[in-house]
Amino acid sequence: MFGLVQILLYANAFYPNSMQTKKVLITGVAGMIGSHLLDELLKKNYTVIGIDNYSFGHVKNIEHNLSNPNFTFYRVDVCDFETLKILGKDVHTIIHLAAYKKISEKEAAMPTFETNGKGTENVFEVAKMWGCKVIFASTSDVYGMSPDLPLREDGDLLIGPSMIRRWNYAVSKLYGEQMAFAYYHDHGVPIVVIRYFGGFSSRSSFAWSGGHIPIFIRAILNDEEVVVHGDGGQTRSMGFVDDLVNGTVLALESEKAVGEIINIGNDEELSVLDSAKLIHEIAKTGKELKVKFLPMKEIFGQYKDILRRIPDLSKAKALLGYEPKVRLKDAIEKTIKTVRQQ
Ligand SMILES: NC(=O)c1ccc[n+]([C@@H]2O[C@H](COP(=O)([O-])OP(=O)(O)OC[C@H]3O[C@@H](n4cnc5c(N)ncnc54)[C@H](O)[C@@H]3O)[C@@H](O)[C@H]2O)c1
Repeated sequence: MFGLVQILLYANAFYPNSMQTKKVLITGVAGMIGSHLLDELLKKNYTVIGIDNYSFGHVKNIEHNLSNPNFTFYRVDVCDFETLKILGKDVHTIIHLAAYKKISEKEAAMPTFETNGKGTENVFEVAKMWGCKVIFASTSDVYGMSPDLPLREDGDLLIGPSMIRRWNYAVSKLYGEQMAFAYYHDHGVPIVVIRYFGGFSSRSSFAWSGGHIPIFIRAILNDEEVVVHGDGGQTRSMGFVDDLVNGTVLALESEKAVGEIINIGNDEELSVLDSAKLIHEIAKTGKELKVKFLPMKEIFGQYKDILRRIPDLSKAKALLGYEPKVRLKDAIEKTIKTVRQQ
């Protein structure tokens, strides 16, 4: 019996060194951003190879594309270097989204380092080997507690102490950013670092790692308590996935983006508590909004939640012509509509 590696080697023998500019590899394709990005790239006639280990993503996010001849999916872990190496051949750009996202104090920290560390190193190594460009998905979490608002790509970063597990996500992504620049400067790998600010859609994980908006939507539609951390006065700038995807495609297609870190998201600011009120108003459930306030310490221990997080989008606007188009209210409306249809 042929294994996956043999089948891929065999397939590659028929398509030698024909690197196409419109052939991309997406890691984490079954996740929230990855699956919407896949929809968009297929619409734009890209050929897409997607990998995912389904640790957080779902087949339902990509199954409508599985019969598309321009899409090939492999259930592969990004830590599997040998397979990644074969899949990366002839690919113009690797869009590296696969990651372990923020974890609570109770969860194991090692998987974050395995996927975000080893997995990311694999991606850059494969890109170096085949001469691919890499778009690396970083996060606004790397700004940490920086008080320099709005947050600029060239600003200093303020990370909390290492005893607090919650910081491991930000640190793992910072490691990825530094690695991106090392491969860019030392090995000439063209890289773009995108710092996504919170985004959501109906395909978000409705668990904590998916962000507060999807969790609140689910709670309100199910007439459950909305759990707010602290007093809910902390603000976030949440964007609809379409804007995150649009920024990613602009970075993919821009020569000027190479060697840059770029904030992508929405700069509308709204407190966590007001988001719950807005979702409740839009959802029109006819039920009362039930809010449960949980003291920060109970959830995060010593971790201090970030009080404000607003991106400075001027670089994305100047460099890529990026402009977030979907207002938060409309994004919530769209998400509620789709969730209800499901
Ligand atoms: N959505 C946001 O608000 C946001 C904000 C900042 C940064 N980001 C970054 O953008 C990227 C995509 O985020 P998302 O919201 O789509 O997350 P997601 O969790 O929905 O998607 C990530 C995907 O990666 C897959 N994956 C995880 N570990 C893997 C591994 N070892 N091998 C193969 N696949 C693996 C998961 O199964 C999942 O489908 C991530 O790197 C994340 O850190 C997202």
